[in-house]
Amino acid sequence: MSGAPREVLGGQAAGDERRLEAALRPRSLEEFVGQSDVRGNLQVFIRAARERGDALDHLLLCGPPGLGKTALAHVVAIEMGAPLRATSGPVLERPGDLAALLSNLEAGDVLFVDEIHRLHPAVEEILYPAMEDFHLDLLIGQGPGAQSVRLDLPRFTLVGATTRAGLLTAPLRDRFGYVARLDYYPQDDLVAILERGSERLGLRLDPEAAAVIGARARGTPRIALRLLRRVRDFAEVEGAGSRIEPRIARFALERLGVDTEGFDPLDRALLRTLIEKFDGGPVGLDTLAAALGEDRGTVEDLIEPYLLQAGFLERTPRGRLATRAAWDHLGVVPPEPASGQRRLF
Ligand SMILES: Nc1ncnc2c1ncn2[C@@H]1O[C@H](COP(=O)(O)OP(=O)(O)OP(=O)(O)O)[C@@H](O)[C@H]1O
Ligand SMILES: [Mg+2]
Repeated sequence: MSGAPREVLGGQAAGDERRLEAALRPRSLEEFVGQSDVRGNLQVFIRAARERGDALDHLLLCGPPGLGKTALAHVVAIEMGAPLRATSGPVLERPGDLAALLSNLEAGDVLFVDEIHRLHPAVEEILYPAMEDFHLDLLIGQGPGAQSVRLDLPRFTLVGATTRAGLLTAPLRDRFGYVARLDYYPQDDLVAILERGSERLGLRLDPEAAAVIGARARGTPRIALRLLRRVRDFAEVEGAGSRIEPRIARFALERLGVDTEGFDPLDRALLRTLIEKFDGGPVGLDTLAAALGEDRGTVEDLIEPYLLQAGFLERTPRGRLATRAAWDHLGVVPPEPASGQRRLF
């Protein structure tokens, strides 16, 4: 099956989306919508650090793709009045790559390391003393003549981001002063993000249209803003110009195959297969994947997470089970259990 539907509803950035996103990033903590606990704490830490005239303590941002980790890293640098130097785990191949970056930092700079769970162990080791005591231990030369040189670093702030916090080693995790976990956004926040995004894009977004798009964005700002751009395309072609009305929003989303729950054809195919071929389950992952014509990894990593989180699917020891909400969503009446059998839900 083609990966096309996930270009609309996947949490990961697609194509040149990161470039488009840079233009829509919040420019202050105030503009960063939602996540009030994290935002409130950061506000305090940033203010305290600024008043002390010190660098902010190292910060780890965790959470699923598209929830605003990169956006928040930029906001932190802006609020600290410091430049942000960005790199990522897989880009730093050798310890020297990181050493070069670190030794060029100035006091107060923010070093953003995206996908920090993918750091090479030898690179990660350089980071420990740099984060803890602000120095680098460099080995100059090779063999018996090699010499260890200690280089002092300015006090900087490391901001790490990861979608897989569980993969971080304990010594690395322990060196962060604050771990911020970003969560899926409620509808109101998504609407606020859409309103701000439309302003930046020069669109006039009807409140009802914002609600329609927000409800189908899977709790993810990236998906909300992506749907907004696609809806804008339909509005332009349909001659509505920069006005986004509910009618055009519904029409566009229908054309994109996105339903009222924010499910795409792949999500619906899984639920339909589970319900129509296996009476709602429980059925093993391999059997379900084979019936869908997908491989196990695609089902587990790309289709199931949102269905599980939204409460349409359950993982049980005996396999996958469609919940009541899944039957209702597809408009199918679940069979009565035979006498003596346990009700499914
Ligand atoms: N709380 C928010 N308020 C306003 N805009 C947001 C918020 N969170 C995310 N966005 C916007 O959503 C888009 C995606 O966010 P971002 O790139 O920061 O996600 P991410 O968590 O870094 O994703 P990935 O794991 O793929 O790197 C960006 O355009 C960003 O500006
Ligand atoms: Mg990011």
